[in-house]
Amino acid sequence: MYPQSFSLDDGTTVHFREETSGDLESVWGLYSTLGSESRHTLPPFNRSLIERWSSCLNEYTFKPVLVSVDEGDGERIIGRASLYHDLSPATKHRAEFGIVVHDDYQGRGVGTNLTLFMVHVARAKGLRKLTLDVFAENGRAVHVFEACGYAKEGLFQEHYWFRGRFYDVVRMGLAL
Ligand SMILES: CC(C)(COP(=O)(O)OP(=O)(O)OC[C@H]1O[C@@H](n2cnc3c(N)ncnc32)[C@H](O)[C@@H]1OP(=O)(O)O)[C@@H](O)C(=O)NCCC(=O)NCCS
Repeated sequence: MYPQSFSLDDGTTVHFREETSGDLESVWGLYSTLGSESRHTLPPFNRSLIERWSSCLNEYTFKPVLVSVDEGDGERIIGRASLYHDLSPATKHRAEFGIVVHDDYQGRGVGTNLTLFMVHVARAKGLRKLTLDVFAENGRAVHVFEACGYAKEGLFQEHYWFRGRFYDVVRMGLAL
């Protein structure tokens, strides 16, 4: 079994666990306090989108995984990863990976450990492939994904229009 917790360099223990419908406020707390740089690495989101995710949890093949730490006054959610799984015959062998780590905890190995954890989950469930789309300018994320085994499969220029400008997108895949 892949470890469900690990320690940061300052001794803080980080846990991975499945998201439940009772986590709505914690997940909103994670997204709503992201810094502007992190927000701009993600498609736009708002409270109603996060509420929709929370209300659809029962429909997910793979429950999203939350990253938690105990900061002394209780559990704080500092990251989230998802595997979007479309069950149609043409696509059910693969899932689409998404990840966010709160700014307060970036650059400390959480994203790498969480990405590897989700690869383990997908492999254990018998999927053949993971895919993801990442903004081409998001060098940190591309670095983490490549370190975890993803390879670039294509570049889509001016693929999205968000926040008043176009974004190039790198499509990445990992054969399981
Ligand atoms: C991308 C993200 C998940 C990575 O998580 P993290 O916890 O910061 O990642 P880690 O600390 O495990 O690793 C960061 C790595 O990126 C490297 N890095 C940092 N900035 C970089 C940059 N601009 N270009 C290339 N590499 C960079 C670090 O050196 C480190 O590499 P190393 O482990 O080889 O030393 C996190 O930064 C995040 O959530 N960002 C905002 C949301 C996002 O981008 N999501 C992905 C959308 S597809």
